[in-house]
Amino acid sequence: MFPFFARLLTIALFGWLPLHTSAAPQFEDTMAQRTLACVACHGKEGRAGPDGYYPRLAGKPAGYLYNQLLNFRDGRRHYGLMTGLVDPLTDAYLMEIAQHFSRLDLPYPPPQPALAPKELLARGQLLVTQGDAGKKIPACSQCHGQALTGVTPNIPGLLGLSRDYLNAQLGAWQTRQRRAQAPDCMAHIAGQLTPQDVAAVAHWLASQALPANTKPASSLPPVPPGAQRQSCGSAPVPVATNKTATTPIPANRVGPAAAQVAQGAYLARAGNCMACHTARGGTPFAGGRGIETPFGTVYSSNLTSDTSTGLGSWSSNDFWQAMHDGRAKDGRLLNPAFPYASFTQVTRADSDALFAYLQSLPPSRQPNADHALRWPFGTQTALVIWRALYFTPGVYQANTAKPASWNRGAYLVRGLGHCGACHTPRNALGAAKSGFDLAGGMMPMQNGYAPSLRSPLEAGVAGGNTQHVVALLKTGLSPNGSATGPMAEVVRNSTQYLSNSDLSAMTVYLKSLVTPSLQDTRPAAPHSETARPVPGNGAKLYETHCVQCHGAQGEGVNGAYPPLANNRAVTLADTSNLVQMLLFGGYAPATAGNPRPFGMPPFVLKLNDKETAAVLTYIRNAWGNTAPQVTELNVNRARGQP
Ligand code: HEC
Ligand code: HEC
Ligand code: HEC
Ligand code: HEC
Ligand code: HEC
Repeated sequence: MFPFFARLLTIALFGWLPLHTSAAPQFEDTMAQRTLACVACHGKEGRAGPDGYYPRLAGKPAGYLYNQLLNFRDGRRHYGLMTGLVDPLTDAYLMEIAQHFSRLDLPYPPPQPALAPKELLARGQLLVTQGDAGKKIPACSQCHGQALTGVTPNIPGLLGLSRDYLNAQLGAWQTRQRRAQAPDCMAHIAGQLTPQDVAAVAHWLASQALPANTKPASSLPPVPPGAQRQSCGSAPVPVATNKTATTPIPANRVGPAAAQVAQGAYLARAGNCMACHTARGGTPFAGGRGIETPFGTVYSSNLTSDTSTGLGSWSSNDFWQAMHDGRAKDGRLLNPAFPYASFTQVTRADSDALFAYLQSLPPSRQPNADHALRWPFGTQTALVIWRALYFTPGVYQANTAKPASWNRGAYLVRGLGHCGACHTPRNALGAAKSGFDLAGGMMPMQNGYAPSLRSPLEAGVAGGNTQHVVALLKTGLSPNGSATGPMAEVVRNSTQYLSNSDLSAMTVYLKSLVTPSLQDTRPAAPHSETARPVPGNGAKLYETHCVQCHGAQGEGVNGAYPPLANNRAVTLADTSNLVQMLLFGGYAPATAGNPRPFGMPPFVLKLNDKETAAVLTYIRNAWGNTAPQVTELNVNRARGQP
């Protein structure tokens, strides 16, 4: 079924595109352009895919669509490809996307034929229009509107959805796979339905034609006397658009204390503490995020001021012991997934400021989860050995031969910024390989590669433009490329909040890192491969699927689509990021400097391994790029790991 469906999708999305390579990219700065990654699955203009698996977006109430986008991002609904796309986006931008699709007024497809027995359809109609008081099932129309076209702002229509989709959604609520904002009225209602009832409503609803006016109603229908409507939750509408999120400083802290808390808040951004210490959809800093390591899963701790489960009973000395020496208050050796091997460089004054900030966070009671590490990695003995081999506590020592900006940059990159946690290669025990500081490393559990910040062939910036590096860290976008995957998360949660002077200092330090000899230790690209004509139909695939955004000469569109010509991310020896980007797509991070990024559609359902390898090989060898081919095996390894 997939190849056929994929063809339909391809026609739906790209059928209207000019197919001659001489055409300039068709670029208009519109929401439609920004959401091309979405219509790749949801059908042209969000009209729904032809088989009904991809739900319609067009014309649905904006609040409803917005709630769903948050549900995917915060783990109440599950579809990996959607979550990956919306992850780097802000609430304000998701609302704008929701409003865009909501405003589209497009015809609906004809209803599906009613193939079910009469009695089943009658039962469906009864439940939808009147409910079943004896079984405590309210009429669906009570909330979804008399015409079943939904009610603004938060309740979707029930017509124009396929039977399979309706079945799947009601089933998902019954098994808690789908959840809504609390109070989750639909979980309650779906829980009252028998499998027979679910089939009945799905069959009946899918076979109903839409009324002439398909717009959602503007108010709920009245409930019959004596009856009561259950209440349903929804997310608050985002207000400020993309202002730097700052935690208000408690009124009882004034003078030096307030300054220290503000300084700590800034340092917490520099150290990206929140990203690791917040579970998907959870309270910020309350911990519980599982971090996958080659040795099992480590759960981050609660850093809020709660006295029993957080740091409420810690002193600044206890906190210093954790940051500087990797030991908890009770003396327990901490797992190095907490990057204390970098944080040990942090000064006592900065540690105290961080602690003051964390103590100002409202307490959140959430006990720490037990790590799930394979024996012997979870034991204290293993950590004693690991630390003896690989860890030396020590605050950053300034290099007096270098200017202050270089030292500030080195302090941030090597200390709080823990850039080496990804950019330094690891040995079999997960420790930084000595002598290979920031020389590029595979991120074992993410199937991605953090390029060398030293090598001119990778992400080394020695010869680069300072402004471009600062722009990348500040906005996620530079004229040469954009931050993707794990780096997008770093920019979104951390570096975008740093001052220009700190970002410049970091750049000064990064620009001083050139160690060509490290480059020599990597296997050189075999030149003979690149001289051969590119195999496969990559050029044709590029013309069909990519030229629209990345341009006939791989030139991209400045500020929207990264260039592929002369882009080191494209020609990198390690192809894992490239394959990931093509299979799973992505948005650049939404930042204050680039609040409404453009998206790259996932191609995992559209191109097979051979085609993926062919188009990637093509872009690695077009427009002056030269790099070895991408093999089907490279692609096959990454498929299935969104
Ligand atoms: C790879 C295909 C794919 C892409 C790309 C995609 N979606 Fe989806 N989307 C789905 C599927 C499948 C579902 C239904 C998931 C389920 O069963 O819960 C869905 C569900 C939704 C829903 C919930 C609809 C409803 O009626 O409950 C919204 C809203 C949505 N997507 C918006 C978007 C937006 C916005 C984008 C672009 C940023 C996007 N999607 C990109 C496949 C995709
Ligand atoms: C008390 C109000 C209420 C009643 C009664 C109600 N619903 Fe809902 N329904 C909602 C709300 C609110 C949502 C949106 C939930 C969310 O934000 O995810 C919803 C969503 C849905 C969806 C998801 C649509 C989509 O596009 O994914 C389906 C399907 C659904 N309801 C079916 C039903 C059926 C069938 C009945 C009757 C048996 C029913 N509902 C009765 C409030 C109600
Ligand atoms: C890459 C993920 C990551 C980042 C970034 C991170 N942490 Fe952690 N942190 C962890 C993990 C995982 C643990 C749990 C370690 C353990 O229990 O052995 C932890 C534990 C801690 C602890 C010990 C808490 C306790 O109850 O024992 C403190 C304190 C801490 N982190 C503070 C911070 C601060 C402050 C920052 C930012 C400057 C930060 N962390 C950034 C992953 C991270
Ligand atoms: C969680 C892992 C991770 C951390 C931490 C991290 N990076 Fe990255 N970085 C990556 C990955 C993966 C890439 C490749 C993807 C890309 O190019 O955006 C990358 C790419 C880059 C690039 C090249 C981007 C481009 O497209 O030109 C620079 C520069 C960079 N990182 C600097 C930093 C600095 C500075 C820090 C510390 C503040 C840092 N990184 C921390 C994972 C990480
Ligand atoms: C709808 C527009 C669109 C289409 C079509 C599209 N891309 Fe992209 N592409 C983007 C955007 C936007 C980004 C930046 C995403 C990010 O930063 O996470 C991107 C990023 C990339 C990157 C990573 C570049 C970097 O600097 O890290 C590669 C490689 C890429 N696309 C290749 C392709 C190929 C090959 C195709 C066709 C099979 C394609 N793209 C189709 C919009 C598109």
